[in-house]
Amino acid sequence: MNRRQSVLMTAVGSYLPENIVSNEALSAFVDTDDAWIKRRTGITQRHLVAEGETTSDMAREAAAKALTAAGITGADIDLIIVATTTPDNTFPSTATKVQHEIGAIDAIAFDVQAVCAGFVYALDIAQAMLQGGRGSKALIIGAESFSKLLDWNDRTTCVLFGDGAGAAVLELDDSAEANGDDNWGIRSSVLHSNGAYRDILYVDGGPSSNNTVGHVRMEGKEVFRHAVEKLAAVMDEALTAANMQASQIDWLVPHQANIRIIDAMQKKMNLPTERVVRTVDQHANTSAASIPLALAAAVDDGRIKNGDVLAMEAIGGGLVWGAALVKFGRPR
Ligand code: UT7
Repeated sequence: MNRRQSVLMTAVGSYLPENIVSNEALSAFVDTDDAWIKRRTGITQRHLVAEGETTSDMAREAAAKALTAAGITGADIDLIIVATTTPDNTFPSTATKVQHEIGAIDAIAFDVQAVCAGFVYALDIAQAMLQGGRGSKALIIGAESFSKLLDWNDRTTCVLFGDGAGAAVLELDDSAEANGDDNWGIRSSVLHSNGAYRDILYVDGGPSSNNTVGHVRMEGKEVFRHAVEKLAAVMDEALTAANMQASQIDWLVPHQANIRIIDAMQKKMNLPTERVVRTVDQHANTSAASIPLALAAAVDDGRIKNGDVLAMEAIGGGLVWGAALVKFGRPR
C-alpha cells in the first residue's frame, strides 16, 4: 500500500494596497467614531484598493512573494486555487488570470467561493487534489477587494472590512521525515456549511437574482453568536482529527473579523496572548485573505518558524466554517 503523502505548507506571501484608511477618515462621511469601532471590533485602520487595482493584481503580488519564498517559479505550480468573493469578473475565474500572469502554464486553476472561510476551504481542497494525484505543488490564495461590496452609508458593515491578499505554497512530500510520527504539513482540516443561516450574512445582489453586484448585509449580533460557538466546536474537531491537544499549538492564526471573537477563541483554547496572531487592528476583516495575511505577517516578522504548529479557523456567509492544523515548513 502507498504511504500517505504529507502536504507541506512551505512558504507564504502577502500584499496590501498602499491606501490606508483610518477610523477617523470614515467618521467624516458615516455616523461612526474611532472609539466605537475600536471598542466593538478592535479595528483601527484598513487598506483599500486604489482606482483600477483588482483582486487578481493583489493575488498575483502575494503569489509572487510566496513563490520567491519557496524558491520556485510559476512554471513549477500544478494547481492554483483562489478563494475570493470579489473576483475581477463573474467569469473567467481570478485564478486563471493569476495562472497566466505568473506563468503557471500547466496548472489547473479555479476559484472557490466560501467567503471568509475560503482559505480553509482552499487548503482542504488542494490537499485532497494533491494527494489524489493532481500534481505536487499548489498555490492557494485568499484575495479580496471587499470594499467593492460595501454600502458606504451603512455604518453597521462599512467600518468592518478591508482589502488585501495572501498566498501559501503547498508541496506534496513523501519523505520519511515528513511522514514520521511527528507529521509535517496539514495535520487535519474540517469543513462545515449550513445554508439555513444564509439570511444573516449575505450580499443583496448577483447575476441570477437581480443582475447587480449588490452590498453586504449582516445581522452582526447573530453572526457573532454563531462565530464564537461554531469556531470553538470546529477547532475541537480539528484537534481530535489530528490527535492533538490545544496545548500543542504554537500559533493560533484565526480569521480576523473581530478582536472579541479572537479573544474568546484564545480563552477557549487556553493559549497565552502572545501565541495568537492578531492583525484585525491593521487590516480589518479581509474575508478570504485574512488568514493568509495574518500568517504572512507572523512569518515575515520571525514569530512563526519552521516546524511550528499552526491552528487556523474561519467562518463566513452561508454559513460556512472550518478549521485546519498545519505543521509549518519542511523537515530539514
Ligand atoms: O467575517 C464574517 C464573520 N463576521 C463576523 O464575525 C462579524 C460578527 N459580528 C460582529 O463583529 C459584531 O456584531 C459587530 C461589530 C458587527 C457589531 O457589534 P455589536 O456589539 O454586536 O453591536 P450591535 O450591532 O448590537 O450595535 C450596538 C449599537 C447599536 O446602537 P443601538 O441600537 O444600541 O442604539 C448600533 O446602531 O452600536 C450601533 N452601531 C454603531 N455605532 C457607531 C453599529 N455600528 C456602529 C458604528 N459606529 N459603526
